[in-house]
Amino acid sequence: MRLIVRKSPPLRGTVRISGSKNSVLPVLAASLLAEGKSRIGDIPNLKDVVIMQDLLKHFGADIKWDKTKGIIDICADNITEYEALYDLASQMRASFLVMGPLLARIGKAKVPLPGGCAIGSRPVDLHLKGFAALGAEIIQQNGYVEAYAAKLKGAKIYLDFPSVGATENIIMAAVYAEGTTIIENAAVEPEIVDLANYLNAMGADIRGAGTDSVKINGVNCLKGTNHNVIPDRIEAGTFMVAGAITRGEIFLENVVSDHLKPVIAKLKECNVDVVESEKGIRVCGRDIIKSVDIKTLPYPGFPTDMQAPFMSLLSIAEGTSMVIETVFENRFMHVGELKRMGAQIKIESRSAIIEGVKKLTGTQVRATDLRAGASLILSALIADETTEISDIYHIERGYSEIDKKLIALGANLEKVK
Ligand code: UD1
Repeated sequence: MRLIVRKSPPLRGTVRISGSKNSVLPVLAASLLAEGKSRIGDIPNLKDVVIMQDLLKHFGADIKWDKTKGIIDICADNITEYEALYDLASQMRASFLVMGPLLARIGKAKVPLPGGCAIGSRPVDLHLKGFAALGAEIIQQNGYVEAYAAKLKGAKIYLDFPSVGATENIIMAAVYAEGTTIIENAAVEPEIVDLANYLNAMGADIRGAGTDSVKINGVNCLKGTNHNVIPDRIEAGTFMVAGAITRGEIFLENVVSDHLKPVIAKLKECNVDVVESEKGIRVCGRDIIKSVDIKTLPYPGFPTDMQAPFMSLLSIAEGTSMVIETVFENRFMHVGELKRMGAQIKIESRSAIIEGVKKLTGTQVRATDLRAGASLILSALIADETTEISDIYHIERGYSEIDKKLIALGANLEKVK
């Protein structure tokens, strides 16, 4: 599938932001830990959710997904498998998040070692260091990681880097461990808090989620519960940039402004009008977009997932901007494609220097990864002539019905085979 995007008028209207991709994936994996039925609400309609659903079904979970209502009912009373199939798990790095829950619930897990991906080598050493500290035996062979433990034991674990996935995986592994686990230098992303809230509602005893020290007191039993995932802060940020770059006016519903502080601050620095209220966020683009410097950091710093979408805005700003990527080693794949559209960007190691240009021109470009794909759509909305974006399955992994949402705001685009 490809997206054909033509120069669009200023986007106007209201958009409802979907449930968070990065929350729903660990939350679904965590459902493996409970007895009885859980009902998860505000499920975004994403390829990555389909993959996680298929993985969990393979382990023996009973799952019903009502896509119209955005609800998944899941019951993991009968876990019969502990090995994740390569063909399925290798499609999504977040598949590795099933390791902690399987290990905790049935004492064994076998998951393919995630390969590198477009944005870097992305190792899982911190996840494994955590499982080993909890007493699991870890075997790496034939491209798989196997972990075994009759009963995990609480431990103090220091993460060399506040990895989101490692923090989540270790929390899930530790919920049934004997005694207390403390994760230090833990990631503090809102998605960690959402996962802990879900687990605590199931009966877990997790304290300090959202701070850099998370304490997990092991419990004996978790029961299924109801939970709604938090709104997707990256989807929200992307629509905010869509409003700004087209000089339109967009109202975002179902957002938590607190989760978007660095994005809102940087948009304001760019001269974009952003008004937060209890009902949502209004973004109003102005003619002049000012250049700004950005450095991606773990939360509450500027999110690496917003780096590519924001670069589209900076590529037409007045003056020179600098973007420093500190979280991933190779996250500038979009730069080559943006340059094909007329952007002036120079990469020096982990920095990109962007000279704002007056206009972009559409051409054929390729979505190299999820957020890179989003940045191409944003640039295409204001580019002269037509942009044809290929490999859009990357975009569909993480943006729920982005084509329909943009069309409803007035964008001129269509999905074609
Ligand atoms: C999650 C998000 C992703 C986001 C990222 C950073 C999900 C499903 N995905 O990914 O959208 O871009 O957080 O905010 O939630 N690292 C190691 N060893 C490890 C683990 C990570 O060196 O064991 C490194 C990674 O290579 C990377 C950095 O730590 O350079 C951040 O990775 P991490 O926070 O783990 O990101 P993910 O959980 O994979």
